[in-house]
Amino acid sequence: MKRIWRSIVPALLCLGAVSAQAQVSQVSVWAAACANCHGTDGRAQAGNAALAGQSKNELVLKLQDFKNGRRPATIMHQISKGYSDEQLEQIAGYFAAQKP
Ligand code: HEC
Repeated sequence: MKRIWRSIVPALLCLGAVSAQAQVSQVSVWAAACANCHGTDGRAQAGNAALAGQSKNELVLKLQDFKNGRRPATIMHQISKGYSDEQLEQIAGYFAAQKP
């Protein structure tokens, strides 16, 4: 019995690592869609809003407000509607973790 666990546990740990990795790269693909306007990893050129280093809560709130139309916008209403709440939360976490 012990022998079985010795081979199963590392396999499970390995699967966990793979799915965590897949999640990270999925978020970075979504975040790359923001780079044209907000700069690479949210470090924007002057004139555009920098996302890098803003708090996650603040980013989630702003994105939700765009999605619900509560926050005035030219383009962000359409863009934010393209993502689920869960995706917006992950994207916010991604930019919050970037160095400004
Ligand atoms: C086509 C250009 C463009 C793209 C692509 C874009 N944005 Fe924006 N973003 C803007 C503009 C312009 C504003 C200012 C509000 C407006 O006019 O819509 C803004 C504002 C914001 C703000 C508010 C910033 C602040 O601190 O006030 C957030 C947050 C944001 N965008 C997040 C994102 C995220 C996340 C993505 C990718 C999923 C994204 N944007 C993609 C143009 C863009």
